[in-house]
Amino acid sequence: MTDQASAKDTEPLGPTASRLWRFMKPHRWGLLLSVIAFVLVASTEPLIPKLLGYALGEGFNAKSTNVAGFSIPGGAPAASAPAVAPAASTTAAASIASSAGVVAPSASAASSPSRPSLAEVNQNYSFPIWMVPIVLIGLFAVRGLFTFCGQYMLNWTISRTVMDIRTALLQVLLRADARVYTSLQPATAVTKVVNDPQHVVTLIAGALITILRDGLPALALMGFLFFINWKLTLLSLITVPGLAFVVRKVNRRVRRMGSWAYDAQLRLVSVIEDVTRAWRVVRSFDAADYERRRFAERAREVQRSTLKTAASNAMAQPLSQLMASVGISIIVSLALYQSRVNGTGVGEFASFVAALLFMSSRLRHLSDVMQPITNALVVARGCMGLLDTPPEPDTGTRELRDVRGDIALQQVTLRYPGANRDALAAMDLHIPAGRTTALVGSSGAGKSSVVNLLLGFERPDSGRILLDDVPIDELTKANLRRQFAVVSQDIVLFDLSIADNIAYAQERDDAKLEQVLRAAALWDFVQSLPEGLDTTVGANGSKLSGGQRQRLAIARALYKDAPVWIFDEATSALDTESERAVQQALEQWQGRKTLIVIAHRLSTIRRADCIQVLADGQVVESGDHDALMARDGVYAGMVKVQH
Ligand SMILES: Nc1ncnc2c1ncn2[C@@H]1O[C@H](COP(=O)(O)OP(=O)(O)O)[C@@H](O)[C@H]1O
Ligand SMILES: [Mg+2]
Repeated sequence: MTDQASAKDTEPLGPTASRLWRFMKPHRWGLLLSVIAFVLVASTEPLIPKLLGYALGEGFNAKSTNVAGFSIPGGAPAASAPAVAPAASTTAAASIASSAGVVAPSASAASSPSRPSLAEVNQNYSFPIWMVPIVLIGLFAVRGLFTFCGQYMLNWTISRTVMDIRTALLQVLLRADARVYTSLQPATAVTKVVNDPQHVVTLIAGALITILRDGLPALALMGFLFFINWKLTLLSLITVPGLAFVVRKVNRRVRRMGSWAYDAQLRLVSVIEDVTRAWRVVRSFDAADYERRRFAERAREVQRSTLKTAASNAMAQPLSQLMASVGISIIVSLALYQSRVNGTGVGEFASFVAALLFMSSRLRHLSDVMQPITNALVVARGCMGLLDTPPEPDTGTRELRDVRGDIALQQVTLRYPGANRDALAAMDLHIPAGRTTALVGSSGAGKSSVVNLLLGFERPDSGRILLDDVPIDELTKANLRRQFAVVSQDIVLFDLSIADNIAYAQERDDAKLEQVLRAAALWDFVQSLPEGLDTTVGANGSKLSGGQRQRLAIARALYKDAPVWIFDEATSALDTESERAVQQALEQWQGRKTLIVIAHRLSTIRRADCIQVLADGQVVESGDHDALMARDGVYAGMVKVQH
């Protein structure tokens, strides 16, 4: 299992950390305010026992008997007791009172001879009783306010940073090179963009707060230690390399196990994606058991890897404590030796050891902080790796207007990565403007590859592609794609309304919607729906039939006012009647649009101005139907087979 993560393990996490910081940096003031608030809350902590002690110490002793201004335990006169007793009735106050040596006065209350007025009672003391609730409640109110502000600012920072990371990741996805999508599973992308940033930033922010809350007192205690006995303190630093060694070792392990766990988790997610996306196939193959086993296998890997990560995490504390105990025992022995030899005072020794112990407990919290940070960075490395995805090259600068749609491929060769033969082999192809051109050929002949090239999703390995005599790589990608409306082989619909699917990312125009829906022979169907144009189509159009999905995609292409229309097997799922209706509608635009039709059913393209027959990535025949039939070649053979 270690070898699975070993390649990544050698990469340091430093670059990931600085990358993360770049996202947090704009919001650092939020983090700072939150830290200040938490430090303020922490600093009020000693105020409560102190105030209570003061209230009880001062409050029980009247000025008259307390000449020196110093409270004498048990010295309160019986007469003053009853009025103050309620203030001391809380358990906390009582315990502090008793620990401060104040004897609860209630026992002597009964012997009170006369009750003085409240004003008289207050007069005799250094502060009036009403101050007690005011100060206590005020203190808690202030603490509450700071706690709230601290939490709020922390979450403000977290949520903003997370939003920024997600936005950056989405930006990457929107610009990524087309080839990225052949290897990136949608569910993996969801995990990396949506879940991971939240997880990472929450862990890091929590760790930062701990560092500041425990780190500052630890530093103060360290200063105090130097002040008392700098020699011993310096000596205590000999344990630092040992601690650093332990932390390094543990972190390496956490990093390795964490990477493994992260990858295992992504593999698990992809099973869920398959099971939900292909649920029909799973059910129809009765593959529930098969999928359950596949899931169980990967779930077990996740379980084992997370357990190992947790075990590595859990090793950190005992190991670093062990190291610390070595240090502490050396120091205590040395200090004892020193005091026996030089006769240094017990008091100094005691305060030194106490401060040392306090510091080590603070440091223990700090040592717990390393693992969450390492874990967070491992996850961050996974999701931020997406930021390194190469963007689609978009080096063109020209923008064409009023494109006629004359297309030419000159000696174009295309080989997909990993393929052992060319998808297109030195292809020459001319598609004249304002005409209907059909591309036919057996599957795998390279028809869809031509479409991918025209839209700039793939780049030719050699050769030129011209649009209106301009090489398409001189055009900006946006301008190039504006010239094409494509109905691709696999229909993609959004989980939106019919209207939004057709007027996708464009202004909605109901008259135009009706026009294109009629052209796509879908208007009657849409009219029969209870919500008409506003009916949602379900995830990828799951509420529609295959033919309806195709017609919706055709309507979307028609809605986009592009000079070139491409239909890649766009009518394959239509019955002959709807297909004829679509064809007739398309004929209205004949002469005004350049139309590229790819079809298996040869009756569909019989009336095309020109038919290009493709085989093995080359054009083997071209001409209109009659010419090709007369030639009695490949095309004629295909027509005969279909009849
Ligand atoms: N993304 C890809 N990666 C590797 N090979 C591909 C890819 N897309 C298509 N091919 C291969 O390129 C050839 C042409 O495919 P395509 O243009 O889709 O054929 P069709 O004429 O059926 O539309 C096929 O042999 C196919 O296997
Ligand atoms: Mg195809």
